[in-house]
Amino acid sequence: SKGCKLVGCGSAVPALEISNDDLSQIVDTSDEWISVRTGIRRRRVLSGKDNLTTLAVEAARKALEMAKVDSDDLDLILMCTSTPEDLFGSAPQISKQLGCKTNPLSYDITAACSGFVLGLISAACHIRGGGFNNVLVIGADALSRYVDWTDRGTCILFGDAAGAVLLQGCNTEEDGLFGFDLHSDGNGQRHLNATIKENESYNALDSNGSVLGFPPKPSSYSCIQMNGKEVFRFAVRCVPQSIESALEKAGLPASSIDWLVLHQANQRIIDAVATRLELPSERVISNLANYGNTSAASIPLALDEAVRSGKVQAGQTIATAGFGAGLTWGSAIVRW
Ligand code: ACO
Repeated sequence: SKGCKLVGCGSAVPALEISNDDLSQIVDTSDEWISVRTGIRRRRVLSGKDNLTTLAVEAARKALEMAKVDSDDLDLILMCTSTPEDLFGSAPQISKQLGCKTNPLSYDITAACSGFVLGLISAACHIRGGGFNNVLVIGADALSRYVDWTDRGTCILFGDAAGAVLLQGCNTEEDGLFGFDLHSDGNGQRHLNATIKENESYNALDSNGSVLGFPPKPSSYSCIQMNGKEVFRFAVRCVPQSIESALEKAGLPASSIDWLVLHQANQRIIDAVATRLELPSERVISNLANYGNTSAASIPLALDEAVRSGKVQAGQTIATAGFGAGLTWGSAIVRW
């Protein structure tokens, strides 16, 4: 079967920056509390005419430019997001805005903060077994839309962003995906979710058992509910295991990892995973101080900054892992 390799990356963030001090104006918190517990100092938030599709398109354009691939040569666009502008899927709008004239298949993948890793592996499967060649994988989220801005336990954590990579088919000798590992556990949903609100009017019955509330009102989603301590424990337990399992499938030792590019949720989670894998901090990529937790966007955003700043170099081995709501988690060992 065919190989696949990473040939480009890009990212985009909204203009509006919100500092920890700005947040301390709206909830009872402080810059010190937030930076000591999370490592986050500021985050970007969509405002005005910004939207997630536009950010995703900007990130995608940069990835195509780096790879020197024309949008008409795309075979597939995977938009990994849990906060789409269209409930039916936002990926076709990205294809439209990129000006793709060949109508590539475009669809959304919903797996919260694990979305990008799942998208990457799905792209590889499409290339290896499905006859696709140029696959754009976008991770983009705007959790600011579902944050309860009165809840200091969650509103300090999240930011909005988009990141993209281009994965391309190649011969097996050049294959750049060495191993991966993906999981989910619905039992943990209670620790992190944003679920649909019950339609109370529609559920109301009269004394004869007939529905009173017809026609139903449109539904909406609740804000993000999170038990931070449980999510923390889950991440620190499952992420190192997952990376070790991906390394085993790749037949590589942890010492072969040049860069650890984890989902950027909390600096303490990143540090704990690096310690478990015995990786020195010089090999760990972290940019969450500037962007907070950007969900599905965080890995391609961190990767893109590290590539463009010259940290990550061609031929190096990257261990990446996503984890979050679902619960979902997964990792991949790839060559840049
Ligand atoms: N400012 C000041 N005080 C606060 C704040 C805040 N922003 N938030 C909570 N506190 C208070 C609490 O009220 C509590 O006070 P109490 O002791 O008087 O009750 C105290 O600080 C400790 O609260 P904890 O929630 O126990 O704090 P913890 O040390 O667990 O840190 C945190 C909270 C930072 C959220 C941490 O649990 C964490 O990072 N967890 C992982 C969360 C995460 O990464 N989620 C995203 C997953 S990815 C995805 O899919 C979206």
